[in-house]
Amino acid sequence: MLQFPKDFLWGVSTSAYQIEGAWNEDGRGESVWDRFAHRPHNVADNHNGDVACDHYHRMPDDVALLKTLGMPAYHFSISWTRVLPAGCGAVNPAGLDFYDRLVDELLAAGITPMAVLHHWDFPQALQELGGWVNRASVDWFTDFARVMFNRLGDRVPLWATFNEPWVIAFLGYGSGIFAPGVCDYSQAYQTLHHLLLAHAKTVQLFRQDNHAGEIGIVLNPDHFIPATNRAEDIAACQRAYDENVGMFLRPLVFGEYPAQFMDWLGVHRPTIFPGDLAQIKGSFDYLGVNYYRTSTVTHDVGGGLLKAKIHSVSEPGWGRTEMDWGIHPAGLTHVLLDWKENYGNPKMMVTENGAAFPDAPDDTGAVNDPARINFLRAHIEATHAAIRQGANVRGYFAWSFMDNFEWASGYRPRFGLVYVDYPTQKRTPKASAHWFGRVAQQNGL
Ligand code: NOJ
Repeated sequence: MLQFPKDFLWGVSTSAYQIEGAWNEDGRGESVWDRFAHRPHNVADNHNGDVACDHYHRMPDDVALLKTLGMPAYHFSISWTRVLPAGCGAVNPAGLDFYDRLVDELLAAGITPMAVLHHWDFPQALQELGGWVNRASVDWFTDFARVMFNRLGDRVPLWATFNEPWVIAFLGYGSGIFAPGVCDYSQAYQTLHHLLLAHAKTVQLFRQDNHAGEIGIVLNPDHFIPATNRAEDIAACQRAYDENVGMFLRPLVFGEYPAQFMDWLGVHRPTIFPGDLAQIKGSFDYLGVNYYRTSTVTHDVGGGLLKAKIHSVSEPGWGRTEMDWGIHPAGLTHVLLDWKENYGNPKMMVTENGAAFPDAPDDTGAVNDPARINFLRAHIEATHAAIRQGANVRGYFAWSFMDNFEWASGYRPRFGLVYVDYPTQKRTPKASAHWFGRVAQQNGL
């Protein structure tokens, strides 16, 4: 049996917009994802998060299910506009109460709550003031964080400021395939900088107010491999790495952006005020790793700002997921060892890992998903391999607790350990849910 270290934290993850639904109930304000998904052609099959998994109304039952499955921890995000409908100003008591009840239910069930302040559902009212491109966003976010710390800080031991700021910056403001749908790389890099600054100021606030517990940020590193050993592919690979990893970890760990890559950006370089980077440096207790892919990188003059073609690949024999992503467990070991060796071996948690497969109930109503069990097993083994080589990894969370709204891909891809029948909202734990619950309980496999 592969045994994990004592106090290793196991759990499952979700996010607010992907599961809650109740998009306009009890005073919730509009987010950029409401606006984006309500507009035709932005999301596959014109799906949206209006109802999603109806978790807002079913939360106590969902927490009871987490307990039945034996999940030690639960990683969820907070809908900013449920709490502050206009993004700033008046607090909506009903919204704040929802998260208060969620945390109490979790604690009563013996489940550790891990709260992410922001998982992409930015307030539409603030988008109209420029969104993350406006430097005032740093204060908007810290004001929201203050409200949450004051209400939940006494009971939530683990916090993250942002989930995957790379996605907000580059899919939200660069390619525009995600909300708010802006296609402008200058705005994307400005967003990146303001996200890191908002993160840093929020961590300062958390520390100044002496909240118990730890706070970090969740990144989404790919493992990148040059497609060949030609110098131009190696250089393109470095750019892909810098955009995805270096632009976040160098400022967070060393207080600087990667110099060569900043030169490459030319006119798209963000405006940085003196003192910003010094605040970003060291602003975390732990780092979250959402790992999904390993990608080869080829120099390609048609490859946008990076001049790179990025292609996700599988290890031999693994096939691909329903979203046509490669499956490459060893890439997770590489990522964790890269962070160990090149960024001072920070405290790390695998905060998301999982895959979409075409699951369906059989005649008896059971959902057997051996492909997901194999996927999770191999990635848990890859995490263990990194720990054996000295990586400071403290937890592993599977994405996702249940099937949910997969952003621009709508409801078709099913990432859940629990199957959701959307018309009836019936939850059926898949075989992987029972399997993973046992792994968590045994602290190993
Ligand atoms: C990362 C994101 O944080 C989550 O929202 C998404 O559903 C999963 N990856 C799968 O794509």
